[in-house]
Amino acid sequence: MKRDVIIACDFPTAEETFAFLDRFREEKPFVKIGMELFYGAGPEIVRKIKARGHKIFLDLKLHDIPNTVKRAMAVLSKLDVDLTNLHAAGGLDMMRAAIEGLTRPDGTRPRLIAVTQLTSIDQTRLSNELLIDRSLPEVVSQYAKNAKAAGLDGVVCSPLEAGTVHETCGAGFLTVTPGVRFSDGATGDQQRVTTPAKARELGSDLIVVGRPITAAADPVAAYRRCVSEFLG
Ligand code: C5P
Repeated sequence: MKRDVIIACDFPTAEETFAFLDRFREEKPFVKIGMELFYGAGPEIVRKIKARGHKIFLDLKLHDIPNTVKRAMAVLSKLDVDLTNLHAAGGLDMMRAAIEGLTRPDGTRPRLIAVTQLTSIDQTRLSNELLIDRSLPEVVSQYAKNAKAAGLDGVVCSPLEAGTVHETCGAGFLTVTPGVRFSDGATGDQQRVTTPAKARELGSDLIVVGRPITAAADPVAAYRRCVSEFLG
């Protein structure tokens, strides 16, 4: 999958999403549909955005027993998304089952990536709430290795972890990275941020950018700036 900017379409309704996408007359950006929009607007929103010619990352972060995830992935594969995800914490069997479910009768399937640790989990929570007795980087690295062993295509991680993930799992293993901000922009609730140019330097394959584009006065200009800084 070639390097690209994915716009996180974190809108509550289909109307707001289409009003946003209608602004793009020349480009067809790669879009991320998350839980809010998917649960609010239903699977139809995926079909409609796909029909307009956009690539889609369906960010639903599945996590359940292997059989349930397999069956859910079989349903998602019919939506013809380009990229989807699950939690690596579900284990190797769950990840293998997900690939089975996602694979269509003709052998094709959407790319599948794993969330290693949510960026809302820091070392204190990991140790004191989840009782995981290892460092956060060790856990991220082990979960990325598990994802690779299960046959997944990559992970969602911080741009700051992209280099380590490529070192441990190979250059072809996708790193999809949120937490991107313009050098002169607001950080919002993201803790550790990098610019699009820095994300490129650190080896991110796909950057996921929400508010710096969706909340910009001119979203198309912000998208173009992001693409030019990231692709160089
Ligand atoms: O608006 P912003 O650029 O912060 O949006 C980032 C997007 O990436 C949001 O949809 C957010 O849910 C998602 N995300 C994230 N951190 C993760 C995983 C997903 O910010 N670890």
